[in-house]
Amino acid sequence: MSSEKIKFAYWVPNVSGGLIVSNIEQRTSYDFDYNRKLAQIAEQSGFEYALSQIRFTAGYGAEYQHESVSFSHALLAATTKLRVIAAILPGPWDPVVVAKQLTTIDILTGGRIAVNVVSGWFKGEFQAIGQPWLEHDERYRRSEEFIDVLKGIWTTDNFSYSGDFYRFHNFTLKPKPLQQPHPEVFQGGSSRAARDMASRVSNWYFTNGNTVDGIKAQIDDIKSKAAVHNHKVKIGVNAFIIARDTEAEAKAVLAEIIEKANPEAVNAFGHEVKQAGAASPEGEGNWAKSTFEDLVQYNDGFKTNLIGTPQQIAERIVALKAIGVDLILSGFLHFQEEVAYFGEKVLPLVRELEAQQTALPA
Ligand SMILES: Cc1cc2nc3c(=O)[nH]c(=O)nc-3n(C[C@H](O)[C@H](O)[C@H](O)COP(=O)(O)O)c2cc1C
Repeated sequence: MSSEKIKFAYWVPNVSGGLIVSNIEQRTSYDFDYNRKLAQIAEQSGFEYALSQIRFTAGYGAEYQHESVSFSHALLAATTKLRVIAAILPGPWDPVVVAKQLTTIDILTGGRIAVNVVSGWFKGEFQAIGQPWLEHDERYRRSEEFIDVLKGIWTTDNFSYSGDFYRFHNFTLKPKPLQQPHPEVFQGGSSRAARDMASRVSNWYFTNGNTVDGIKAQIDDIKSKAAVHNHKVKIGVNAFIIARDTEAEAKAVLAEIIEKANPEAVNAFGHEVKQAGAASPEGEGNWAKSTFEDLVQYNDGFKTNLIGTPQQIAERIVALKAIGVDLILSGFLHFQEEVAYFGEKVLPLVRELEAQQTALPA
């Protein structure tokens, strides 16, 4: 097992309506005051990263959305240690704009910006903003060129590139980012195309929630391919965390979430996401096998099963670490309170278990 401590990120609620499609009370808000305080609580509680979301339109919820790069910058300015991952979408964003914009933010914030390159699943959103809709694997081919170019601009003077989507001629970015060799590049998605891309170019692979076996299969696939490319990639897994003093309380919260799910919105979301993993040639990506209950959480976060007492959750996190997970991306019902509870009750147990494991003879 890795001797590095497992890391924690939380989903920045820069999109309204929380992370579940249910009428249960969610104490969260997309406004900046709420988010600033949340970021400060998170860094004090031991979270290393915050992940912003990119969304231009509502569809099934998510009615209001703050732009991810500017919002990420504001969160960095309000914190001192937290790293913020700005989500961007190739198409609306051009790689030279992202390279320049994030370099400036990197310098202004002491080297704490990162980027999540998402490949898109929401055809209605692309149509609404006049972006051409590429087929599933073409979206990833573009994302891979995007990441190649981004890293190229960040690290190379007189950068030239001739791809199907992007072209550069002797371009030199000045200044270069503070973080060397460059800010970390995350990606979201779980299809074969996503895994192949991760094994070649990304620093981090983010996947939807899943069972331990489901996650292990993805990790084994990515790591064996990455070895062929002499590339190192770390793994982040989504989980909707419900930590309560008793298991019964935690399970009751999940039952209430499902009971109060909004079927119309869940089904509309389920319909939209068929453009993602299920549309990939092998049909294995995100949401390809999601049930109605899974879809109540946008990124299959119940499947990871971090629902129970602090002890149960800590044990399951360490079990995920044992199969190669480097980071837990967490979502919560009542963000501020639950991030603080997690930092106080769950995280110390995780660190204790990690220390015990490391002390065991190899
Ligand atoms: C952790 C994570 C974060 C994501 N964030 C966004 C986002 O902010 N905006 C967006 O449109 N898609 C987002 N996605 C969706 C992915 O970019 C991708 O389109 C989707 O997961 C389907 O990928 P697949 O078909 O390769 O499985 C995210 C996915 C994951 C796993």
